Amino acid sequence: MVDDSLVDQVVILTGAAGGIGSAIARTFHRLGARLLLADYDEQSVLDLASSLDPAGERAVGIAYNASNPSDADAVVSTCVARFGHIDHVVPAAAIFEDQPFSTMTDEQWRRTMSINLDGVFYICRRSIPHIRPGGTIVTIASSAAHEGCSPEHVHYGASKGGILAFTKSLARELSPTIRVNAVSPGTIDTPMVAELLRQKGDKFLSITPAGRFGTGEEVGDAVAFLCSKASSYIMGQTIHVNGGSYMGG
Ligand SMILES: NC(=O)c1ccc[n+]([C@@H]2O[C@H](COP(=O)([O-])OP(=O)(O)OC[C@H]3O[C@@H](n4cnc5c(N)ncnc54)[C@H](O)[C@@H]3O)[C@@H](O)[C@H]2O)c1
Repeated sequence: MVDDSLVDQVVILTGAAGGIGSAIARTFHRLGARLLLADYDEQSVLDLASSLDPAGERAVGIAYNASNPSDADAVVSTCVARFGHIDHVVPAAAIFEDQPFSTMTDEQWRRTMSINLDGVFYICRRSIPHIRPGGTIVTIASSAAHEGCSPEHVHYGASKGGILAFTKSLARELSPTIRVNAVSPGTIDTPMVAELLRQKGDKFLSITPAGRFGTGEEVGDAVAFLCSKASSYIMGQTIHVNGGSYMGG
């Protein structure tokens, strides 16, 4: 992306230590943004922040549990104290656990929903009063939200379906002051799906016209585009980054 509209912009990114999150962080850093990087994996997110910006001027890491509302408070207040305001929020933290529906417990269901869906509400709700006009929220949905998820992931599919409806509903409420859009990745080669790909990678590859799995950087480019001025007339939409495995309308 050649757009320079992200220079000095302030971004809250959750799940920042993950395969996609860290790629998004690197993309935003390259484009000149200032980053508040939040993740459950404290050591990894602190290491990421210091590797991007050893001086700590443009990247700050913070430990964060997406399912804990007070952690969302801490992320927002740290961001505002450090950078003065917020321009973009990218809530990417999520879990993907194998649990057959027939034996799924209430706790297992709730755990996925609390991290993948409640967590997005907590951080967006608290960020919005501090997002400057012209800012954006870019959620991370999934192909699972559009075509159903792989077996043993009903809770994950439901949480991502919720993210899509959340995104469109919030876009209607906040546009045009704050634009809200989603990116729906297909199969991206990250730790989240490593075991799934080990077991069923050939099957997923056979339905992917690109002939390969995606990279975090390819998701990061779509997120950065939706945060940039280059996407100024795009609201409540979803960009699919999936190598053609699902061709959404
Ligand atoms: N990899 C894929 O194929 C794929 C496909 C579709 C959507 N996605 C979505 O992309 C996003 C990033 O996924 P990824 O592939 O990078 O996964 P990942 O497992 O590599 O990264 C997820 C990150 O979230 C963090 N996390 C987990 N629980 C947390 C919690 N309670 N609080 C805060 N952070 C927590 C983890 O520590 C990790 O750093 C997720 O929203 C995921 O659902 C991924």
